[in-house]
Amino acid sequence: MKRHGSNTQGGAPSKPHRPRHGARQPERFDPAHAALLDDPERFDYLPPKRVIELLDPPAGALVVDYGAGTGTYAIAIARARPDVTVVAYDEQPQMLKRLAAKPEASLPNLRMAAPEQFAELRGRCERVLALNVLHELGDRALKELAALPSAAGFVLLIDWNAGVERPVGPPREHTYDSREALQRLQAVGLRVEELKPMRYHFVLRARG
Ligand SMILES: C[S@@+](CC[C@H](N)C(=O)[O-])C[C@H]1O[C@@H](n2cnc3c(N)ncnc32)[C@H](O)[C@@H]1O
Repeated sequence: MKRHGSNTQGGAPSKPHRPRHGARQPERFDPAHAALLDDPERFDYLPPKRVIELLDPPAGALVVDYGAGTGTYAIAIARARPDVTVVAYDEQPQMLKRLAAKPEASLPNLRMAAPEQFAELRGRCERVLALNVLHELGDRALKELAALPSAAGFVLLIDWNAGVERPVGPPREHTYDSREALQRLQAVGLRVEELKPMRYHFVLRARG
C-alpha cells in the first residue's frame, strides 16, 4: 500500500458528512484513493491470515468489519470462514459500491451495511474488526463502535502506528501510537489489552 497523501475529498458526496469531532485525521478517507485498499502489497505487512487468527470468531458468529472500505478484509474473512456471517459496514456509499462490484460480493455469508442499519447490529456482534479506521473516527463514531460487540464479544483494532517509521500509510501526525489509542478507547469505557504489534500497526483488543 502506497503513501496516502492528503485526503482531500474528491467528487461531490452523496450525503452530508457526519460530524468527526475528535478524529486524529482531519479529513475522512477519500474514495478517490480506494484502489490503495485493494493493493495486494498490503498483505505483506497486514496478512489476512493473521487478522483472522486474531479475530478467532466462534462458529456461527456475526462479524462486523467496521469501516470496511472496499471489503478487502471482509472478503478474506468470509472466504476463510464460511461458518460465520461477515457484515462489511461503511459510512461512505461510494466504498460499498466498489465492494458490490467485486465478484466476491456474492459470497453467501457476506453482507453490506450502511449507518441506516446500525441499530440492527448494535450489541449483537461477536466480533468487530476496525482496521485502519480508529484514526478516522470522531468521538461520536468511537462510541458507536464501542456499542457494537455483544456481551461476550470484542473489537479488534489494528491501526497505523505513529510510533514506528513507515514508508506507507497516512502521515504520522494523522495516526496514534498504541498508548494514545489505548487511552482513547479507555475513555469511552472499553477494557483494552495490547497484543503483539505488526510491522507498521498496533493491535488492541477491546471489550465493553
Ligand atoms: C482507510 S479506510 C480502511 C478500509 C478497510 N478497513 C481496509 O483496511 O481495507 C477507512 C474506511 O473507514 C470508513 N469510515 C470512517 N469512519 C467511519 C464511520 N464512522 N462509520 C463507518 N465507516 C467509517 C471510511 O469510509 C473508509 O472506507
